[in-house]
Amino acid sequence: MSDTRYQGPIQQPAVYPHSLVEQGFADDAALADLLDRYPATLIDINLYDYDDEGQHSLRTGTRGRQSGAALLEAIQAGRLWVNLRGIESAWPELWAAASREYQAIEASLPGLKAVKRAGQLILSSPQARVPYHFDAAGVVLFHMRGRKRVFVFPGDEAHLPERHMELVVARQTTEEVPYRMSFEAEARIVDLEPGQALTWPLYAPHRVENLDRFCVSLSMDFQTWPTRWRNGALFTNAVLRSRGRTPRHTDTMGTAGLMARWVVALALRRAGLLRSRIADLPRDFVPEAGLADGARPL
Ligand SMILES: [Fe+2]
Repeated sequence: MSDTRYQGPIQQPAVYPHSLVEQGFADDAALADLLDRYPATLIDINLYDYDDEGQHSLRTGTRGRQSGAALLEAIQAGRLWVNLRGIESAWPELWAAASREYQAIEASLPGLKAVKRAGQLILSSPQARVPYHFDAAGVVLFHMRGRKRVFVFPGDEAHLPERHMELVVARQTTEEVPYRMSFEAEARIVDLEPGQALTWPLYAPHRVENLDRFCVSLSMDFQTWPTRWRNGALFTNAVLRSRGRTPRHTDTMGTAGLMARWVVALALRRAGLLRSRIADLPRDFVPEAGLADGARPL
């Protein structure tokens, strides 16, 4: 049984072995060295808090001038979630190794064909939790260090309203869709150990809890032709909705309808009709070991 309305080659969460840990990519020395040379513009540093209803608030950090080792120490002692974007160009050795692993996974999923892939290395504190969200792409999460619990939810309208997907795809909001604690009853729960990779149905909403240890994972996202068409249709719908129209849900469209709206979306994006509203979030803190949450307020 599949509980996503976007039929794709991945029917349910699936775990695969990988060998990135043995290759040394998650060792402290390698990570500190990486942080020393990583472009600051490609680093996201987030701190999430949750209320009793499970609703989150976000503070964002800036890297500061400390050494990679000091930054790593702040992550390991704090309550931070650090995302290194652009791994495919910033750490080509890891990317090449992960791409080999990806090819084996893709080969085991009939009908899956990525046309574009990108990677983010995620370094997160022992207590970090990532809020409920979806990615407008497929994802393979290569877990390399620590333990994390991934909650994967149905991708139907109740758990993933298309109106909110449109806002995310058009970058009118950060990647979050409405969450209710009642969703938890329908979560599929996967505990990940180092050396395991997890993938799940395209677009499925998910959230992540670290299980008391510093965690390192490579999140590889990929577009297929169907996700490109779908994202284009969602973008076109976002523009239509911003103009007061009520577009059809994309899950009522066939491939020809999705492709037509993807073509429209290419033109709309070029025309720059919907400006991103999330490009310049103000920064709230600098990571620092020994302070509460591992953060020095700015
Ligand atoms: Fe995600």
